[in-house]
Amino acid sequence: MSDILQAAERIARAAGAILREGYSREKNITHKGAVDLVTEYDHRSEAMILSQLQEAFPGHAIVAEESVGAAGWPPFPLAAGEYEWLVDPLDGTTNFAHGFPVFAVSLALTRRGQLLVGVVYDPLRDELYAAEAGRGATLNGQPIQVSAETDLSHSLLATGFPYDIRTNSHNNLAQFAQFQLRSRAVRRAGSAALDCAWVAARRLDGYWEFRAKPWDVGAGALIVREAGGSVTTAEGDENFLGRDSILVSNGHIHAQMLRVLREGDGAPLPDEG
Ligand code: IPD
Ligand code: CA
Ligand code: CA
Repeated sequence: MSDILQAAERIARAAGAILREGYSREKNITHKGAVDLVTEYDHRSEAMILSQLQEAFPGHAIVAEESVGAAGWPPFPLAAGEYEWLVDPLDGTTNFAHGFPVFAVSLALTRRGQLLVGVVYDPLRDELYAAEAGRGATLNGQPIQVSAETDLSHSLLATGFPYDIRTNSHNNLAQFAQFQLRSRAVRRAGSAALDCAWVAARRLDGYWEFRAKPWDVGAGALIVREAGGSVTTAEGDENFLGRDSILVSNGHIHAQMLRVLREGDGAPLPDEG
């Protein structure tokens, strides 16, 4: 394992410990938007990650969710940074705030826009998913592999909805219904990083989302690729980071999922009805 991955794992575990400790306490919650929350633990976790990354990798650029500000997110990759970290200090804030036990820390390192290292840490289950480009993916140190399912109608999928769901008509509700009718079921667990990690660990067969951010899906996407899966945009472009959509799968059902995204209600329904 490279020194970089080792450092990323150490930092993700330390941030996860902050979240685990805060999970059972009364939380100070503020609103970023009508449905978009932030807690003091998003900020505490991020502050710790930033200081540790800056100390370990002084020359690297960092894009961290809570430091980007309300103005939105910078272009990806940053023009300035050859090496750039993508940091989500708490992916699944709504769950965390409500006491729903699905959230994670997500750290990815890119070089000129290409994913090099990804770590997703689930502090409640003490599950650390990790990958390095070309070196495979692991869960708590053990190699993981995507599922072998080849039939969309037998697949368990996941998705997420953007925070502007009330005001943006491209809100994924139509696609949610289309996939629900063509798969075994679609889950909405509330953490994009874990949705990806769970595809890598064969708990899910596929995941898609619109307007997920690079810090939500960067680490998880590398973990899926290194576990043998596929990652593209909803149009099938492999250059997905910083784009408007993401489609993640075990690879075998990727073309079937792309067809649903392309044809919508016109895509074939399973025979059994
Ligand atoms: C959110 C979660 C959610 C996804 C949203 C993300 P946050 O991240 O990953 O599952 O549907 O698009 O913004 O705000 O909890 O870090
Ligand atoms: Ca997130
Ligand atoms: Ca977050």
